[in-house]
Amino acid sequence: MSKIKKIAVFTSGGDAPGMNAAIRSVVRSATFHDLHVFGIMQGYHGLIEGNINRLERKDVGNIIQRGGTILKTARSKEFMFPEGRQKAYESVQAFELDGLVAIGGNGTYTGAKKFGEEFGIPIIGVPGTIDNDIYGTDFTIGFDTAINTAIEAVDRIRDTADSHSRLFFIEVMGRHSGYIALYTGIGSGAGTIFLPETESNFDKLISLLKKEGRRKKLFNLVIVAEGNKNGNAMELAEMVKQEIDGIDTKVTIIGHLQRGGSPTANDRVLASRLGHSAVEGLLEGKSACAVGLRNNMVEFTSFEDAISKPNPLNKDLIKMAEILAM
Ligand code: F6P
Repeated sequence: MSKIKKIAVFTSGGDAPGMNAAIRSVVRSATFHDLHVFGIMQGYHGLIEGNINRLERKDVGNIIQRGGTILKTARSKEFMFPEGRQKAYESVQAFELDGLVAIGGNGTYTGAKKFGEEFGIPIIGVPGTIDNDIYGTDFTIGFDTAINTAIEAVDRIRDTADSHSRLFFIEVMGRHSGYIALYTGIGSGAGTIFLPETESNFDKLISLLKKEGRRKKLFNLVIVAEGNKNGNAMELAEMVKQEIDGIDTKVTIIGHLQRGGSPTANDRVLASRLGHSAVEGLLEGKSACAVGLRNNMVEFTSFEDAISKPNPLNKDLIKMAEILAM
């Protein structure tokens, strides 16, 4: 018999499409096991403030298709300090919580690891971030929706880029990770992709553009990850103008458009599976770990590993993207 009777779920860090599907899955899976479930508003901030409400099956109806998070989210500075975490623990005691499900990214896991170690409360992480930058899962909740949104935007830009023979620099999200840029670039057939993880492609881009100019072949889409080290989309477009006389460049920053919208089927199913497994994990006595999907199988990874190990880009995909764009 599990000692877990009451659990709470929260979302923290940047929102990601599919978080609601994960919340729904946690609530319904826990209710199935006769647990009492609570929703903590605004992540760690709500835990500190005691902004916690009972969630029942009916409360999570009609949300599987909605982007954002019904529990709201935040990046709490207070939780980074012992006083903040002490207050948060007082809420855990006041609501007699036996376990937590933390939906978010690396920052969320870091807070959960510390909190769990300090107060001995079982916590399981669920990877919710559009960045796909978490070790221990092939994909994070929200990534698939974000790249679909980005690709749809790039397709639209391609129409006008083609019509005017203009070179577009399109910036996608990913402060530290090039996953969104790489998948968007491959999926939209972009000419070049700038990633935070790789050496600068700038010289290659210039020589390609000069060559393309001679061949009169259109080369009009460059995808730039937000965290690209040698310049953002705006800066790269300027640098190209300095190098190539008379080139017509435009810049589009897709930005937070990628964070919203109805989750794709893949994200809904992923979120449902991971939310469900998080509850099962708590009931089996698991703690201080994150749930993920690897090779289509549910796996648990310690917070230690999930936080400290990278989720590197597949080098073969980077190479392939270059070959396909030639
Ligand atoms: O981590 C998700 C993410 O969307 C990153 O890709 C991006 O750099 C960051 O969040 C933006 O954060 P904010 O919405 O707080 O500006």
